[in-house]
Amino acid sequence: MMQTINFTRGVPANESFPIDDLAEAAGTILKSKGPAVLQYGPALGFLPLREWLAGWQGVGVDRVLIGNGSLQLIEFLCLQMLKPGDVVFTEAPTYDRTIGLLRRHQATVVGIPIDADGPNIEALERALAARVPKFFYVIPDFQNPSGSTCSLAKRRRLVELAARHEFLLVEDAPYRLLRYRGKEEPTLLELAPERTLHMSSFTKLIAPGVRTGFMIGQPALIAQLAKVAEDTYISPGYVAQGITYEWCRRGLLPPQIERLKALYAPRLDACLAALERHMPNVQATRPDGGFFISITLPEGTTTTAVRAKAATQGLNLTEGLAFFPEGGGERFLRLPFCALSPSEIDEGIRRLADSVR
Ligand SMILES: Cc1ncc(COP(=O)(O)O)c(C=O)c1O
Repeated sequence: MMQTINFTRGVPANESFPIDDLAEAAGTILKSKGPAVLQYGPALGFLPLREWLAGWQGVGVDRVLIGNGSLQLIEFLCLQMLKPGDVVFTEAPTYDRTIGLLRRHQATVVGIPIDADGPNIEALERALAARVPKFFYVIPDFQNPSGSTCSLAKRRRLVELAARHEFLLVEDAPYRLLRYRGKEEPTLLELAPERTLHMSSFTKLIAPGVRTGFMIGQPALIAQLAKVAEDTYISPGYVAQGITYEWCRRGLLPPQIERLKALYAPRLDACLAALERHMPNVQATRPDGGFFISITLPEGTTTTAVRAKAATQGLNLTEGLAFFPEGGGERFLRLPFCALSPSEIDEGIRRLADSVR
């Protein structure tokens, strides 16, 4: 029987999880700091991990909040900052689950189109002339779902516009460290620490199961978000944060990042090569890292129709529409390549090309 290929979810590869090292870290932290990780504690997160993150990021510990994954931290931000009707800007396309949370809080979500080098600045200026958002949610590095990375020039423009119009930049950067080639741009946090709430997660670096995401921002906002967190869950998952801490303390993050790059870079290359081979004329992003390539399907097709056809050929694809807060995306297709082997990627793209035809 034909094996089904799932070009659907942006998940890490199972074989990337550092299981033995995590098991050892778990034993050590439970034995050395058992009561601290098993008891309730401050909603800001397990202090040794907050201190480790503060040192790593070069910020004061009062600027660090750790929660049960970064998605829930976005929920806390919405609970703290938004009332129905408030305006929030996102990129278009953007991470669909963030759109879902913004809608749950009845925000008016304005999508700023993105180009291969980040948000379209003219469109952003037009949108700002009409109204100023509470915040602009951006994914500057290897964006989910498009794969695009914001250029330095555009990062500078974003920071200038945020200062001029006085809105917060929410920088979601879970893919940033997974750069397979090329040079890194500064974070928005580095460019505008007073205007940026930076967030990231160990989901893509260790595993989603550790549910450990973090935010770095102004101490007053971090304290407000910690209060929302406390009212929600008293304290976050300290056992997982303790394991993550012990694993980081042992210096295991840098070699893990190198392992991830060695695993994923050939998958990105396989995806680009397969597009070249099977769909030479398709419009595609060419990222230097992360989890995603996106393509615009040829005129006259829709992702909905291609998806239905592909399903009959053993290929599962994701609908594009959900990534666009204000419509559009009829021909948008996200291709997450990290959890597939190079040969599955090639066969998947071959089936995709067939389905498009
Ligand atoms: C841009 C972005 N933000 C947040 C998340 C959620 O991550 P976490 O597992 O830390 O909640 C994801 C997961 O795919 C993501 O792509």
